[in-house]
Amino acid sequence: MAENTNVLMDKLAALCKRRGFIFQSSEIYGGINGFWDYGPLGVELKRNIKDAWWEDIVRKREDIVGLDCAIIMNPKVWEASGHVGGFADPMRTCRQCKRHFRADQLDDLFLQSEWVKSLGDFITPTGDKSFILDIDEVTRWVNKKGKKLAPGLAIVRNYSVTVSWLAERLQQAQAIGFQELLSFLATEQLNQTGLVVPCPFCGGDLTDPRQFNLMFKTNVGAMEDSTSVAYLRPETAQGIFANYRNVLDTTRIKVPFGIAQIGKSFRNEINPRNYTFRSREFEQMEIEFFCHPSTADKWYAYWRDARYNWYVGLGLTSSKLHLRDHEKEELAHYARACADVEYEFPFGISELEGIANRADYDLSQHQKFSGKDMAYFDDETKERFIPYVIEPSGGVDRATLAFLCEAYCEDTAPDENGAAQARTVMKFHPRLAPVKAAVFPLVKKDGMPEIAMKIYGQLKAAGLATFYDEKGAVGRRYRRQDEAGTPFCLTIDGQTLTDQTVTVRDRDTLHQDRIATDKIVSYVQEHLR
Ligand code: GAP
Repeated sequence: MAENTNVLMDKLAALCKRRGFIFQSSEIYGGINGFWDYGPLGVELKRNIKDAWWEDIVRKREDIVGLDCAIIMNPKVWEASGHVGGFADPMRTCRQCKRHFRADQLDDLFLQSEWVKSLGDFITPTGDKSFILDIDEVTRWVNKKGKKLAPGLAIVRNYSVTVSWLAERLQQAQAIGFQELLSFLATEQLNQTGLVVPCPFCGGDLTDPRQFNLMFKTNVGAMEDSTSVAYLRPETAQGIFANYRNVLDTTRIKVPFGIAQIGKSFRNEINPRNYTFRSREFEQMEIEFFCHPSTADKWYAYWRDARYNWYVGLGLTSSKLHLRDHEKEELAHYARACADVEYEFPFGISELEGIANRADYDLSQHQKFSGKDMAYFDDETKERFIPYVIEPSGGVDRATLAFLCEAYCEDTAPDENGAAQARTVMKFHPRLAPVKAAVFPLVKKDGMPEIAMKIYGQLKAAGLATFYDEKGAVGRRYRRQDEAGTPFCLTIDGQTLTDQTVTVRDRDTLHQDRIATDKIVSYVQEHLR
């Protein structure tokens, strides 16, 4: 992976911690892998994303209603959905350091591995995917870097056995393939084990892949036995299917219609990584859209485009946002079609949301397992059918991370004396910005703080997240707000005392306007739209 991408993620993570967007969960106890907390700015950003989704999906539409289900459900739900039997990833475990790895992510983990990167010390590519090497350099590497970076590698643990095999092999042919080289370095039992994939962390040998179920288990009630086992939901979707009949029976809604839900989901991911991107506790925003089977293709195309455009509308540049249709082989056995909205994160192009045509799979499964009728009766056509489902399923935390990456910008802004100063600015879409306006009295005297507090009160009363700051040089205060992504800074200065106007500074253009104090609330409201 290019070094710049790590640098960018490191800078973003540092800003998120420094300014209170994202903290490591239980940091004072050393943290816990795969869990994150959102600080005062982060929680506002995340809430604004969820509010934008809820407003656009539920409040502004007539064909979608909301739902909020329990996280723990009857375990039969997860038998019907297929999660008990099949929600698993292939896992391999290192026999030396005991770390676990998702088998299908090993290639990626290898590319990031420190010891694999350091093999460049003794291998030289030949140009046809093989390498030449010098045994003396291998020895030097083992003693210098190998012991530190890859203590689990066989050539480090048991140098004499392994290096003699390698020397023998190199006498036959000088060049060696990468996988073959790894095998020579990683095992003392080459004759028995054949090709070996070593641990990307310590170089130890990995077990064969075995299926690992990602659902977190718990027990409900006082007895901890097999009868009390329950699961933390791994997706919000099944709560929607389980309530589909309830919603139909309690509302006047008719097919085609959708049910939307935002809520926490839990997956015991084998390798949580890339900051908050793959976490063990995360939030989803999911829609299950029920339609007549004959219209499913049309609705699938509609949602595929609508969801892509939603992200663009909130500021993700379309050049970094991709809509990838799944190949036939990638589809789950019941799915008719699936597309991912993907974003170009600094660590690579990765999924933000999936849109799937799940046909009648989920409702049919719940009908089978619960014995309850899931068919829909159309009053007009007198037809009974199990609706098809189109599912746009997005992650709140992934959307938050994408908006943070997109917003991060380093440029310059003039200081009090007009000299260009480097600044970091978070250019959030105004709808998502955690703080909408900041109010500063230029100095703490001449009645300026009083006027500033009054304006601050008016903005808060209008429901606008506003920040008041009277400490330090005004340039420093601007830069703090730039890092928070506040679109407007309002400064009360000497001129305010004579003509009742204030300076409004635009975060992105740095343009400064003067507006009347009694127009401030409407000015900010209008410019946020
Ligand atoms: N109901 C369908 C479903 O859950 P999914 O592709 O497994 O589909 C949907 O998940 C979305 O949930 C993903 O596109 C992603 O945004 C989010 N998501 C899934 N696993 C996640 C994880 N471990 N950490 C953060 N977000 C995750």
